[in-house]
Amino acid sequence: MQLIDGKKTAAEIRAGLALRFAEAIQKYGDPAGLAVILVGEDPASMIYTSNKEKACREAGIASLMYRYPDGTPQQEIISLIEKLNHDPHVNGILVQLPLPAGYDENAILKCIDVAKDVDGYSAYQIGLLNLGRPELVACTPKGVLALLDQYNIPLEGKNAVVVGRSNVVGKPIAQLLLSRNATVTICHSRTADIADFTRRADILVVAVGKARMITADMVKEGAVVIDVGINRNETGLCGDVDFEHVAPKCSYITPVPGGVGPMTIAMLMANTLTAYLKQHGN
Ligand code: GUN
Repeated sequence: MQLIDGKKTAAEIRAGLALRFAEAIQKYGDPAGLAVILVGEDPASMIYTSNKEKACREAGIASLMYRYPDGTPQQEIISLIEKLNHDPHVNGILVQLPLPAGYDENAILKCIDVAKDVDGYSAYQIGLLNLGRPELVACTPKGVLALLDQYNIPLEGKNAVVVGRSNVVGKPIAQLLLSRNATVTICHSRTADIADFTRRADILVVAVGKARMITADMVKEGAVVIDVGINRNETGLCGDVDFEHVAPKCSYITPVPGGVGPMTIAMLMANTLTAYLKQHGN
């Protein structure tokens, strides 16, 4: 069994991106920037956004943080996005989710210029992914694929099973695996017998948000297991996979924390570079 080290992989990718940002910024003589909008004071969102700020600093790009109290009129946030859409020094725009109750997430996200949609949440970017012409792919799915590639895990012709069908994780991961010629099955809360599918998986990706739902009897000997879940319990963080009992059966497995999690921010920086380059004619 080999542990997939997301922390180390993410650090290497971020170091590489800092060099590529420096090169691009020198070439075009134009600073790069990411705008991050946080509404309210959700503790997890506050940590995530300050991590994004730090990642920008390390990448050598500007992070423009916009913090609004819960209750700020939705129109004020939309007006900010419209201003940022036209700001040439803002290459990417991200609204931290979830928004507090009462905000219309879709109405707000729809205002982001698709060329600056570094979260890859827009219908346009999802459409490009599904057409096999990805530009800005959602960060966590992109991070899963980057980890599989980093460890040279072959995908073509493999049985890949994705548990979870969210728009931001499950569905785009399935599309990415499909684009690499894996045979992809998506399981979800209404699947009659999830174990019947997971037991046949060469590659098993779990993104449900249910602590330790994947048990050892659900995993094939030699499988590659990618755990996207981050569940908070009494003793700290745990994934959707019962790591202790599943790991001995795997050829590769991601830990939680230290697996997929750190890759998300690395991919956000990668998307911001992609957006910057595209906005400069590449
Ligand atoms: N909330 C949790 N993860 C994410 C993310 O990747 N992007 C945004 N915008 N919000 C999140």
